[in-house]
Amino acid sequence: MLAGRSIILGVTGGIAAYKAAELASALTRAGALVNVVMTQAAQEFVQPLTFAALTGRPVHTTLFGPLTSGPIPHIELAARADLAVIAPATANILAKLAHGLADDLLSSLLLAVTCPVLLCPAMNAAMYAHPAVQANLHRLKEMGYHIVEPEVGRLACGVEGRGRMPAPEVILEHIKRIFSFPGDLSGLKVLVTAGGTREPLDPVRYISDRSSGKMGYALAAAAVERGAVVTLVSAPTSLSPPAGVELVSVETARQMYQAVIERFSRYDVVIKAAAVADYRPKLVSGQKIKKTEGSLILELEKNPDILYELGQRKTPHQTLVGFAAETEDLEANALQKLSKKNLDLLVANDVTQPGAGFGADTNIVKLFFADGRIQSLPIMDKKTLAHRILDAVLELRSERNQK
Ligand code: CTP
Repeated sequence: MLAGRSIILGVTGGIAAYKAAELASALTRAGALVNVVMTQAAQEFVQPLTFAALTGRPVHTTLFGPLTSGPIPHIELAARADLAVIAPATANILAKLAHGLADDLLSSLLLAVTCPVLLCPAMNAAMYAHPAVQANLHRLKEMGYHIVEPEVGRLACGVEGRGRMPAPEVILEHIKRIFSFPGDLSGLKVLVTAGGTREPLDPVRYISDRSSGKMGYALAAAAVERGAVVTLVSAPTSLSPPAGVELVSVETARQMYQAVIERFSRYDVVIKAAAVADYRPKLVSGQKIKKTEGSLILELEKNPDILYELGQRKTPHQTLVGFAAETEDLEANALQKLSKKNLDLLVANDVTQPGAGFGADTNIVKLFFADGRIQSLPIMDKKTLAHRILDAVLELRSERNQK
């Protein structure tokens, strides 16, 4: 997979720079052409010669080389790259990249590349947790950068905390994952719903649920990475929409119904990760409801079941995926929803399990296929799960085309 790939390995000035040497070696052994670019500070930790020896290629350290009429080094390197990996990525390079600064070779190169970029932040735990660093990472994620979270462990400064660069094998796995996005969803239009709908009671209150929207946003991001044209119909969340996604913001179940139904026929794949309120207050007060002596009884009326409606309208070329959040009888409930809503795939999770469900960064699910197959997946982060779900969708679509 890596043979013949041109990979820029950017090394910045942190103690984890020594691990970058192992990464350079592993990438070279896998057949990649590794062009190491070191910042001034990185050279305080490891000598360029180490990388030159491990990669068998020159190491680049400066923006300004000897005066020649040949190609401009950072533009030339950028144009040839299939991937850029920054390991370790210090708080400084993250800040520069997040704000477009280009005052040395590596930062200039990072603005010039058009290939995917994988950032591996590593630093002291307090630095990593600093709001400025977190804001920069957030911004970089939004811009579409791939990020390998640092691990929790004992850091070089002696403290325990999050900030340790993962082992080279882990980074290598991420690199392979990026190269394995073969654009296998290109040509497909995917609609994802996310978040928990809000049903107003009065101008200041609403009924909602614990959905964070993370699963739906991860699905939208994963589908874009694989080349799909993606629309994300989202109820309110605290998340930023992934780069490259068309965002349609809604609030209530009825607004989501409208947004999804009017678009449905134009999409090949629809994934309903949203938590849709089954009921809404029958009367929405125009003024804030005041407390009284007695108790307050709310009358609720039924919302449309969007997924059920889509199942009724589905054509044979469309793939419909639903979610089920259960607290008991997972399998029986899942099978019932799968058939009642005429789905191709149902992703069910028991939200009472630790590591599964609302707000968590991980999930533990079972996939129920329309043909009766059931697949139990281990605990995994929501982005990895998003890819597994998309793999299953593609498998279903290719099986169908073969028939
Ligand atoms: N869903 C929907 N419209 C609704 C309710 C749910 O489109 N009014 C979708 C959700 O987006 C999800 C799936 O249906 O993909 C399952 O939602 P869930 O609330 O678990 O199932 P319900 O059908 O509402 O059943 P119950 O509340 O009885 O568990």
